[in-house]
Amino acid sequence: MAKFTLPANSRIREGKRFPAPPGARRVKEFRVYRWNPDAPENPRYDTYAIDLDACGPMVLDALIKIKNEVDPTLTFRRSCREGICGSCAMNIDGTNTLACLKPIEEVKGAVRITPLPHMPVVKDLVPDLSQAYAQLRSIEPWLKADTPPPPDSERLQSKEERAKLDGLWECILCFCCSTSCPSYWWNGDRFLGPAILLQAYRWVADSRDEATGERLDALEDPFKLYRCHTIMNCTKTCPKGLNPAKAIAELKKLMVERRG
Ligand code: SF4
Ligand code: SF4
Ligand code: FES
Repeated sequence: MAKFTLPANSRIREGKRFPAPPGARRVKEFRVYRWNPDAPENPRYDTYAIDLDACGPMVLDALIKIKNEVDPTLTFRRSCREGICGSCAMNIDGTNTLACLKPIEEVKGAVRITPLPHMPVVKDLVPDLSQAYAQLRSIEPWLKADTPPPPDSERLQSKEERAKLDGLWECILCFCCSTSCPSYWWNGDRFLGPAILLQAYRWVADSRDEATGERLDALEDPFKLYRCHTIMNCTKTCPKGLNPAKAIAELKKLMVERRG
């Protein structure tokens, strides 16, 4: 089997190679980015040869197998295994996606796995999401209303009002979109990025929320919203099939409309 070799000018060194077990017939290599704050050799690619006949179908199945049976030092996040929690977001074969939804068979040759790009790394495939979560807190992602709810029911919406939240409520905050966005790479400390802006629009679009003006005021800033240049990487990469670029466009439209 052809071995993946790093180009001579790569700054990521070759790490350890873990061979396939004896008798393995359907072998696939997984080239996994390793970075450990306590190790001297950083970063590096370790290569694990896995027998696909003894492994589940998804990239996350392979990572779990590696951790359980081959190398317990490998670190990554995961929880639900069904595309709901957003924890297993990483870059697989050059695309940000969820490891639990990515079939191994879709990747030709060795499967290269790195953390979400342009984020500080805590260890191996685990990015530090502190800034992204702080940005989420900053948009106050909860329903704000001064009007008290009806005494005997929830706050109701018409079917049409509820439909406006479709394509927004499904976001699992995996940050595949934000970490694929060049504007977020370069200005992530000030530009909120597509994931957070989609969340901001989710509350602006909610008929029960009464803080639209306040929410739009908070986005009136040269960086928070307007660093989006409609490059569309975010929409292309979203593993849930959402369209954060459209949500951003809707926010910009509302900004223009209210200026008259
Ligand atoms: S919009 Fe899509 S890619 Fe972005 S955080 Fe939400 S689910 Fe993830
Ligand atoms: S459309 Fe905007 S948010 Fe999406 S990738 Fe492009 S610049 Fe980033
Ligand atoms: S493990 Fe929850 S989305 Fe992949």
